[in-house]
Amino acid sequence: MSSAMLRTEGLSVRAAGRYLIEDISIALGQEFVLVRGPSGAGKTTLMRCLAGLIPHAFDLDMQGRVLLGGEPTTDMSLPDIASRVAMVFQRPETQLFNLFVADEIAFAPRNAGLPEAEVASWSGDAAAALGIEHLLARRVTELSGGEKQRVAIASALAMHPEVLILDEPFSQLDIQGAVSLADALGRLHNSGAGVVVIEQYPERLQGLASRELHIDGGEVVFDGPPHDEAPDHSGEQWEALLDPAPMEAKGDELVRLENASVRRDRTEVLRGVNLSLNAGERIALVGPNGSGKSTIAGLLAGTTKPTRGSVERPAKLRIGLVPQSPSWMLLADTARQEIEIGASSRTGSATPPEELLSALGLAAVADHPPSLLSSGEMRRLCFAAALAGRPDLLIVDEPAAGQHREARETMMSLAAQRCEQGGALLFITHDLDLVRRWATRIIVLRDGQITAEGSPVALRKAGTVEDT
Ligand SMILES: Nc1ncnc2c1ncn2[C@@H]1O[C@H](COP(=O)(O)OP(=O)(O)OP(=O)(O)O)[C@@H](O)[C@H]1O
Ligand SMILES: [Mg+2]
Repeated sequence: MSSAMLRTEGLSVRAAGRYLIEDISIALGQEFVLVRGPSGAGKTTLMRCLAGLIPHAFDLDMQGRVLLGGEPTTDMSLPDIASRVAMVFQRPETQLFNLFVADEIAFAPRNAGLPEAEVASWSGDAAAALGIEHLLARRVTELSGGEKQRVAIASALAMHPEVLILDEPFSQLDIQGAVSLADALGRLHNSGAGVVVIEQYPERLQGLASRELHIDGGEVVFDGPPHDEAPDHSGEQWEALLDPAPMEAKGDELVRLENASVRRDRTEVLRGVNLSLNAGERIALVGPNGSGKSTIAGLLAGTTKPTRGSVERPAKLRIGLVPQSPSWMLLADTARQEIEIGASSRTGSATPPEELLSALGLAAVADHPPSLLSSGEMRRLCFAAALAGRPDLLIVDEPAAGQHREARETMMSLAAQRCEQGGALLFITHDLDLVRRWATRIIVLRDGQITAEGSPVALRKAGTVEDT
């Protein structure tokens, strides 16, 4: 038996008088471990401890010990820990700090003092593994959400860490990106590294993980071999979901894009998009990373202006936007207030804030500042605040990111209720299953243009819309 690379002994972390994790003792070797559990359960907190970020970078009350190769992480410096244990954050944009993509990926090997030839080969391999060679000369701040996630992962791979910890690394990746990442993680593990992945879609790691940890309520509630999961559809194409028959009649038109184009730097990232959204519709906007999905969301919400063409939208149209990185939307002192502000913009009978809090599993954190919520909780809070304003058009960019199955379903069914009352939903996702079950229309975007559109096949075959 080889000794564990990482071990925790009676590990607890407290914040605001609450245990985020409590009395966890585990040992990790050169394994491939899948970490599961509900949003807000303490998964990220445990991983931050393993990576030395708690207590070194977060001012939280940590009890017990974390040992790296037998040495307590409290006796080591964060750079020493980080050179051996790399972590990719749940919100990858928060860990990118270089101006250009190439420098971001080369940063760790260069900083470790490797010869420049080796720096080039390590970072080149990492960029190739994530399929981002075409982004190397781009500015980090001017990337789409999924492109940033790929850069953060490539930067961690380029470190050749002993242990790589990834916090929901697939959450914003397109279908091809997810396949590439699974392959890269398999290769890393085969080369002798430990790999620990927090993931809400365990089928993505089928055949790779040999151990599963389930975290719930801050405790390890399961530690053993992986459960069997449904087959992986990650190779499927969006076009295969489309019914070739013409779509049925729709409700009143709410908003329309006419020949809309958006230019960023010298590139047209949207080119001549025509699109009309109607009351009652649940529209899935899908396509590869960088294809322009969030740009369309911005046009519809009015946060992005078209460089050519127009956005036709009645002035009184109410739009609720849940952006891909929702943290910047949250400004109130507590989670409850955030929803109350959303609701106050509208008179009449909206869902009471307390009901939204409990439906979305936020009751326990209702009085916490939004900045202390987990990433999945933040997204649900932003969703609740948008919904509380009873929008005519609700736009949700990546509802599934950071959410366990039950939370995803709750969000979709709340949004669907809004559509029954005459609203419309536009959601952006890479989750085939979510699209298949909830969309009434699918719009496929590739390289800044709509390339296919229609209703989902499964929906028509079933004959009914699953609204319940
Ligand atoms: N601020 C910016 N400046 C310049 N280019 C940008 C900016 N934001 C995004 N882009 C580029 O515009 C294109 C479309 O980006 P967008 O965010 O709409 O993609 P997306 O389909 O939402 O991707 P993802 O699935 O990764 O979220 C991409 O090539 C992206 O790199
Ligand atoms: Mg996007």
